Amino acid sequence: MSSAQELARWREQTRQQALSQSISPEEVDWLLQAVTGLTPLQLRLNQYPPEVAISLQQLTQLWEKRVNQRVPVQYLVGETPWRDINLTVSPGVLIPRPETEQIIDIALDAAGEAFQNGHWVDLGTGSGAIALALAKAVPDATIHAVDNSEDALSIAQQNAQQLGLESNIHFYQGCWFSPLAHLQGKISVMISNPPYIPSGMLKELQPEVAQHEPQSALDGGEDGLAAIRHLIATAPAFVHEGGVWLTEIMKGQAETLYQLLVENGNYTQIHFIQDFAGIERFALAYVSNSSSGFKMDDG
Ligand SMILES: C[S@@+](CC[C@H](N)C(=O)[O-])C[C@H]1O[C@@H](n2cnc3c(N)ncnc32)[C@H](O)[C@@H]1O
Repeated sequence: MSSAQELARWREQTRQQALSQSISPEEVDWLLQAVTGLTPLQLRLNQYPPEVAISLQQLTQLWEKRVNQRVPVQYLVGETPWRDINLTVSPGVLIPRPETEQIIDIALDAAGEAFQNGHWVDLGTGSGAIALALAKAVPDATIHAVDNSEDALSIAQQNAQQLGLESNIHFYQGCWFSPLAHLQGKISVMISNPPYIPSGMLKELQPEVAQHEPQSALDGGEDGLAAIRHLIATAPAFVHEGGVWLTEIMKGQAETLYQLLVENGNYTQIHFIQDFAGIERFALAYVSNSSSGFKMDDG
């Protein structure tokens, strides 16, 4: 148990300590909200209940994990906000990033009205963030979410259940398109935020990422493009003609990716979209020559 006064003092000291360690003081409040149930308004107004159930010692132990072991606050509290949803996260899944939120709007724009009833796939679903946002935004579509990680799929399914969206999404464990043989030539929209960081750069990432997030969600092989090459090569058998091919990429990959898509010969209208920081973050193309032979008019 902690009294209101103790809690107020702990918060003030810990926020100051956070600042001096280049951690946002907002993270202290995030932790407090999650473990005490205090609202952002109560914290902002310094209005605490007479007692909260967690002791200062327990709070300090949790915060020390943040500071000393550099555990991301999202893993400490077990959740993160993303777009308009709250997602459960654990060290088995990548913490969905704010910049990825934009991929949903890009997909919706690219697909337009034509594919509202189509099959949409989220390859490498992780926490399920993209698939869940799509299930909300395109309720008439059939959403398929794939990941090769059992841990990730279990969190994604848990998130779907918590949001009441489990009946809108089909989940599959497997490698990229391989569990989707029944959808050859039928997919209208392929979205993926695959691992794209070159292996050699992984150790340079901040400790929160390098030491705590799953390597399999980050490591894109020697040049970071291993998964994306695979998606370029395999998508034309699964995405029908005119269907959308959309992936997230990292800074500096657009030029090579453009060449890979052109060389493949099955893509048209290839372009790159910047994120809010001005980085070419998303690669968008349409399948022009589906190897399945499926045509839009085939239904
Ligand atoms: C960068 S994370 C993206 C997670 C989530 N879509 C997001 O945007 O937050 C990449 C995901 O791809 C999954 N993945 C890696 N290799 C895979 C493969 N061969 N087949 C399917 N999924 C894979 C990882 O497990 C991880 O969940």
